[in-house]
Parts: sequence; structure tokens; C-alpha cells
Amino acid sequence: MVTNFTGLQPGQEAGEENNLVQQMQMVPALDAVQALASTTLHCVECQTMYPALEPVPRYRCDCDGVLDVETNFGDANLHEPQTRETTFFDDVDTLPSIGASWRQRFDERASSPPIWSISTDTNLLDASGVWRYRELIVPVPEKYVISRPEGNTTLYPVGMENCGMGRIGHRQIGVYAGLDRFFLKHEGENPTGSFKDRGMTVGVTMAHVMGAKAVACASTGNTSASLASYAAQAGMRGIVFLPAGNVAGGKLAQTLAYGATAVQIEGDFDDAMHLVEHVCNELGIYLLNSLNPFRVEGQKAIGFEILQQLDWQAPDWLVLPAGNLGNTSAIGKAFRQAYQLGIINSMPRIASIQAEGANPFYRSFMGKFAERHSVHAETVASAIKIGNPVSYTRARRVIEESDGIVASVSDAQILSAKAVIDRSGIGCEPASAATLAGIRQLVERGVIKHDERVVGVLTGTLLKDSKTGIPQDSGGIVVKPTIDAVRSILEAIEA
Ligand code: F0G
Repeated sequence: MVTNFTGLQPGQEAGEENNLVQQMQMVPALDAVQALASTTLHCVECQTMYPALEPVPRYRCDCDGVLDVETNFGDANLHEPQTRETTFFDDVDTLPSIGASWRQRFDERASSPPIWSISTDTNLLDASGVWRYRELIVPVPEKYVISRPEGNTTLYPVGMENCGMGRIGHRQIGVYAGLDRFFLKHEGENPTGSFKDRGMTVGVTMAHVMGAKAVACASTGNTSASLASYAAQAGMRGIVFLPAGNVAGGKLAQTLAYGATAVQIEGDFDDAMHLVEHVCNELGIYLLNSLNPFRVEGQKAIGFEILQQLDWQAPDWLVLPAGNLGNTSAIGKAFRQAYQLGIINSMPRIASIQAEGANPFYRSFMGKFAERHSVHAETVASAIKIGNPVSYTRARRVIEESDGIVASVSDAQILSAKAVIDRSGIGCEPASAATLAGIRQLVERGVIKHDERVVGVLTGTLLKDSKTGIPQDSGGIVVKPTIDAVRSILEAIEA
């Protein structure tokens, strides 16, 4: 399999004419290296620091730990350059004004999005729900940015109290959850149908900076569609590794239509993940799973955008589905940074929800994180069918520091919650419905209080996994084109 897409024949040496290995050598752009001079990667296990950009991209520490991006948020236009240490908690007197300046900056950018014509790169960046927060994402020169744009997804008020007159259907979600003030952030409204576009715009931008010719990921569907789209936009070769026979048809169709190469693995997502990391390191292909720390930086924008939509009033809880744990890490990090920069004045608690048959993080949480678990994953929620999450340590930190919680819900509970979201007219994919199933459970257990302000993340579109939890019976009733035929059907429905 590996041999096939390198273009090498067995026994052939790398370095010969026309082989892809040679084409795939990377050289980071000098101006980007300078722009990222004060950005580093640090190991979440042993704290070793590495430069953000090296000729051979680094996704793990020498100790094998995953890496986290550390950015110096000093900003010459607003304040004197500051290090993390001086920007954060110690400087309590100046913190409120620093936070206000950030809020004002982001609000100005959000208030004048270009609607009809996008004439400059700066406007394009402001129109993206990721690059609008660019100083807090990654300080890359604008000319390298690859953006659709993405983000700007709806935050639906769905609680029993905060749901307006025109949302009677949506209110059923609040009733089901048992919450008065409840919002759903629909990340399925991103360009390719999932939150993955937020991380992908940053990941592919970094691939562009690196001069990468090819990018790759392992995926249960959404990451592959997103990678394929952004790679096509950037003129790069996209290669995706999928668990054979276990990827939603629409996602595979998207991936192929965008021109990526799909490699089906005889194994599950965890096998594909293991393989792709090896393949990328061996062949000089840029890796775009959330193991890539820059993708996590992009996904932070979900958190920033939620805060901005709530007029910078932090919710009490943020609840999301958890598989590989990139999103838990990212949103938790966004809230931490927003809090440390004085942008918000309280930290939301994070609740990560796993499917019962794919709940290694939940098991670790129940054991007070004494042990890192892995399982053979089984669930109807294909996107979170992951047994050995890559971002375990990053996500563990988020749960611990936000006084968060990890919950586990059954497939039946996921499908029941999905039916409520679908019937409300909003709709989502099964993995996303774990959010509502988890919230309902946590409210019933008294962990989340009825009157707390809760935001749940719906991570993907209803159009994925369209055979799961959706009435399949007839695809509509076929009748003769007469008024009598229609009348008798409507009478039957009423009865
Ligand atoms: N929800 C959806 C819709 C997803 O596609 C994924 C991950 C998750 C939740 C889990 O997020 O891994 O950050 O905890 N999908 C990956 C993919 C695995 O390949 O599309 P996480």
C-alpha cells in the first residue's frame, strides 16, 4: 500500500526521477519562520520545547508525547509585547483593559464582513470565523493563508427560556435536556459539513508555509472531506486513510470529488491513525490529523466564536462529543487563553461525552486519570468510534483545569437525542447527538443545574451517516396525482 502511492517500485531507491518522495521534501518559507520565531512547540508530557517550524515537521516529542503550540501574545498595536507570564494572572490591574482591547478588535472585524466582493486578503481573513482571531491562532503571514472561509456557524438558542417565539420546534431540545438557558453551536454548517474545517484551514496553511506537496490524514469521514477540499484549494495532493467499509458514503463521495486519493485500510480508525503517522514521517507528507498541533489551534476558534456570540459572557458549561479528543483539547485551550488574557472573566466547565462502546477517556476519568485506557471501539456514532485517542494528555489537562467531567452514553441514548435534534429542524450526525444525550444525563444526575447556561456543540451535518437513526421506510409515499389520493393519505396520517 505504502509503495503504491510513493510511486516507487519494490527495490527502487528514493531520489530517482519522478518519485514522489523527492517531490515531497519540504522547505519552510523564511518569512514564516521569522513570523513564528516566538512560537514554539512544547511537549505536554515532558515540557521539552521545539521551534514551530523545522525542515522536517515534528508532530511528537522525542519522548513520544504530543506537542502543543505556545504563542507569545505580545501585540505591538495594542500593548507592549508581553510574555505568557506577564500577560496572565500576575498582571491583574491591566487585565480588564487588555481583555477589552481584544474584544473590541474581534468585534470590529466581525461587524463588517465583506458580503459581495472579497477584494483583499485582510478582508478575507476577517470573514473567516477562524482567522478573525488570528493573533490567538497562529501568527503566520497572511499571504500563506488557505481559507474557504470557514466558521461563522449558528449558535441556536434552544433552552426552554431563551428560545424565542419563532423557535417552538427548537424548544423541544431544551425540554428534552431539561435546561432553561441552552444553546447549540452547529459546526456542521462549516463548508464541508463539520468542525474539521476550522483546524484544516490552519493545518493546510502550515502545509503551504512548509512548501508541502502532499498532505494526509486518517479519518472516519469528516477529516478526509475537509482535507480533500482544502488540499484541492491549495493545489496539494490529498491522501486519506479510511477504515475500509466504515466511512459514510457522502463523506467518501466528497473526498473523491475534491480529488483526494482514498486508501481504505483493513482495520479501524486507530489502525489507520497509526499507519498514517508512520507514512507521513517516512515519506515527507504533511500530516493533518489533530496530532498536528496547528490543527488544534484552528479548532480553538470554535471556543472564541461561541464567546463572541454570547457577547463575551462565558457559559457555565461547554459540552461536546469526544473521540480522538482534539476538540476537547482545542476548545478547552481557547477558554483558558481567553480567561488568561482577560477576554472573559470566568472559565466554563467542559463536559466531554463518549459513546459507551468507545469510551477510553471516560474510563480513565472514572479512575481519576490514574491509568490511560484504550478499547476496541464499537458504536453507531462513526465519528467517535475511536479506542485510543491521540490527544489524551491535552484533553486530560482541560478536564482537570476546567473542573470538567467526562460522561458516557449508550447508542440508544445517542439515537434518541438525535431524533429530537433532527425533528426540531436543526439536525446533526449521530456523533453530534452524543452532546445532547450527555447533557440530558448530566442534568438528570444534578451535575448540570437546570438554570445554568449551557452550550452544546453539534460537530457535524445531518447528511453524514444518513442511514443511522433516520426513518428509512419508504422515502415518501407514492400516490396518483389527484387531490383525492392526497386527501386520503393526510387523513391516514391524522388518524
Ligand atoms: N464529531 C464529529 C462529527 C467528528 O467527525 C469527530 C471526529 C468527532 C466528533 C470527535 O472529535 O476527535 O476531536 O474528539 N472525527 C474524526 C474524523 C475522527 O476522521 O473525521 P475529536
